[in-house]
Amino acid sequence: MSTRSWWSFAGRWKWRGIEMETLEAIRTRRSVRAFTGEAVPEELLRQVMEAAAASASGGNVQPWGFVLLRDPRRLRALRALAPGIIGEPTAVVALCLDMRRAEELGGAMGPRLAWMDIGLATQNALLAAHDLGLGACPIASFHRQAVAVFLDLPAQVEPVLLIALGYPKMQPPAAGRRPLAEVCFAERWGEPL
Ligand SMILES: Cc1cc2nc3c(=O)[nH]c(=O)nc-3n(C[C@H](O)[C@H](O)[C@H](O)COP(=O)(O)O)c2cc1C
Repeated sequence: MSTRSWWSFAGRWKWRGIEMETLEAIRTRRSVRAFTGEAVPEELLRQVMEAAAASASGGNVQPWGFVLLRDPRRLRALRALAPGIIGEPTAVVALCLDMRRAEELGGAMGPRLAWMDIGLATQNALLAAHDLGLGACPIASFHRQAVAVFLDLPAQVEPVLLIALGYPKMQPPAAGRRPLAEVCFAERWGEPL
């Protein structure tokens, strides 16, 4: 990084240009599906949600809402509606899309950008969780209508993704990625970088 300045995240001050913790977090993040069962302090969960809400947003419309679930009975009930949740997370954040807000404030591009916004908020939350020593897994496999009712969502709001959270039992091995030569190009699609 070329510019050097102080910045703060999660209450810690860092000297930009010297530390590379963000890249390290990106490289070492894994989808965690096995949790210890130990409750996560509210302060950490709040920081994960703050990170989601701090994400970039097309036109800064922020067409989202995030619902935190911690009550063990509610989590058990949610798992019954979400076959994609593997293991027993001690918290779940539901990332929800407010399509009316996207349409009203985002113009013609609003609805399209809104989906990207949720993706960016998800990645922010995943990286924040990892930075805080938590395990997290994005979950798309769940019954949308049932979860919308369960969370008491207004009609124009839909649940897009769940993030399962908890203390990780172990660091899963890397899932592996396609070779960079297959996905990164220079100037034109297919031209080697
Ligand atoms: C949009 C999206 C939906 C996902 N849905 C699920 C899911 O329902 N259940 C699950 O166990 N993992 C789910 N995952 C996690 C992926 O399986 C995981 O990201 C992928 O295998 C790569 O592993 P990694 O995240 O450890 O790098 C989802 C990931 C994304 C981005």
